[in-house]
Amino acid sequence: MDLSPGYKRAEDNNAIFKHKLLSSLTPAEKYLIMSSLSTPTTLGAVEIRNRNVISALTRNRSLPTNIPNDTNVDYYKQRAHGGAGLIVIEGTLICQQGTEWPHAPGIYTAEHVAAWRKITDVVHAEGAKIFSQLWHQPTLAIFKYVITELDAIKLAYIAILQYVAAQDLVIDGKLHATQHDVIAAYQPLIKNSNFILNGGLTPSEAADLIQSGTIDAAAFRMLWISHPDM
Ligand SMILES: Cc1cc2nc3c(=O)[nH]c(=O)nc-3n(C[C@H](O)[C@H](O)[C@H](O)COP(=O)(O)O)c2cc1C
Repeated sequence: MDLSPGYKRAEDNNAIFKHKLLSSLTPAEKYLIMSSLSTPTTLGAVEIRNRNVISALTRNRSLPTNIPNDTNVDYYKQRAHGGAGLIVIEGTLICQQGTEWPHAPGIYTAEHVAAWRKITDVVHAEGAKIFSQLWHQPTLAIFKYVITELDAIKLAYIAILQYVAAQDLVIDGKLHATQHDVIAAYQPLIKNSNFILNGGLTPSEAADLIQSGTIDAAAFRMLWISHPDM
């Protein structure tokens, strides 16, 4: 079996170049982004200053254990300072057995909670909001049922990742993931919660989707990650 090491970049080795730098946008694109992505909104009881969301990004930096440390504080402070409306934190363990990542942070002891408090305080001081992504693998596969049930309890938001070829796993020369239109499949099920879309979005595409009322906010990974990533 030809199993590539990690995620094999199948379609686009330079996904970063798909994202236009703001300076290269046309005036019309800039206007669209300013009048949609940059507008505030409310997720449940939480107001966010703009609709630019940082998608969950595992950093594996909670060394030597899984207690968030000063590196984690700096990382999130910088992202909030960078202007994000909402930060969805990295996958966060509800018990150590939930993942194969040894230095992913946890949130299941008083020590974890106190460490996260330092992070939420600096993020709030920078004017951004922060939500936790509770993590226990494997993830649920029965998407429509889960989305319908979560929407019924009026969650602040439901974030859905659409297919990204560049992150698909190639096994024996073939792309592995099931490709489907997540907006058509799941957006009609989301009636009470806000809908955040993620996956291969450019700022202009996100702005169009917000403008048309298809989504409420957009989550980006590539625009928030850099090298050195601190
Ligand atoms: C280094 C890295 C870490 C990630 N960690 C998580 C995670 O902890 N939880 C999660 O749901 N998605 C995770 N993802 C997926 C991203 O949040 C995002 O869904 C994906 O990169 C597609 O978004 P993009 O097209 O804006 O890059 C991770 C992706 C990368 C590259």
